[in-house]
Amino acid sequence: MSTVRPFTSADRDACLVLFDSNVPGFFVPQERAEFEEWLGQPFDSGEYGEYFVLEDGGRVVACGGVWLDPQHPERPAGFSWGMVARDAHRRGYGSALLHFRLGRLRELGAREVHLDTSQHTAPFYARFGFREVRRVPDSYGPGLDRVDLVAELGG
Ligand SMILES: CC(C)(COP(=O)(O)OP(=O)(O)OC[C@H]1O[C@@H](n2cnc3c(N)ncnc32)[C@H](O)[C@@H]1OP(=O)(O)O)[C@@H](O)C(=O)NCCC(=O)NCCS
Repeated sequence: MSTVRPFTSADRDACLVLFDSNVPGFFVPQERAEFEEWLGQPFDSGEYGEYFVLEDGGRVVACGGVWLDPQHPERPAGFSWGMVARDAHRRGYGSALLHFRLGRLRELGAREVHLDTSQHTAPFYARFGFREVRRVPDSYGPGLDRVDLVAELGG
C-alpha cells in the first residue's frame, strides 16, 4: 500500500535517484544541481513550501511539493518538483500524489494552483483540468520546453 508523508533529509538521496531516473527525457542534467540544492531547504508551510514523498512497500517511488506565495497574487500557490520513478510511471502514483497535493493546497486556503513543466508532462496535468498559460521553447534545455499551467481549486 502506498502512503504520502513529509520529506525528511534522509530522503534526499532517494529523491535524487528519482530525478536521475527521469534523465534524459523529462529533466535535463543541468537541473540536477538546482534540485539538489533545493532539497536542502527547511521545508515548512512558510517561504519554502512543503515537500512530500510517496512510499510503496518501503520504497520512495515519487516526490513532489506545494508552495504558497501570497505576496504575488498573480502566482499565489502551486506545485514544485513533482516526479515518479521512471520504472513506475503509469501505475497511478503520479495521480495519487497530485490528489494529495491538491488537498493540501485546499487545506492551506489556496484558490488556484500554478506549475511549470515540460511539453511531455503538460498533457498529464491537462487531464486534471490544468490549462496552459505560457510556453517557452527550449527553456529548460535543448528540446525541453517550459509549459506554465494553472488550475482553479474548487471548494
Ligand atoms: C508526469 C508524471 C508525474 C505522471 O505520473 P504517473 O504515475 O506516470 O501517472 P499516472 O499513472 O497516475 O497516470 C494517470 C493517467 O495519466 C496518464 N498519463 C501519465 N503520464 C502522462 C503524460 N506524460 N501525458 C499524458 N498522459 C499521461 C496515464 O496514462 C493515466 O491515464 P489513465 O487514467 O487513462 O490510465 C510522471 O510521468 C513523471 O514523473 N514524469 C517525469 C517528471 C516530470 O516531468 N515532472 C514534471 C513536473 S516538475
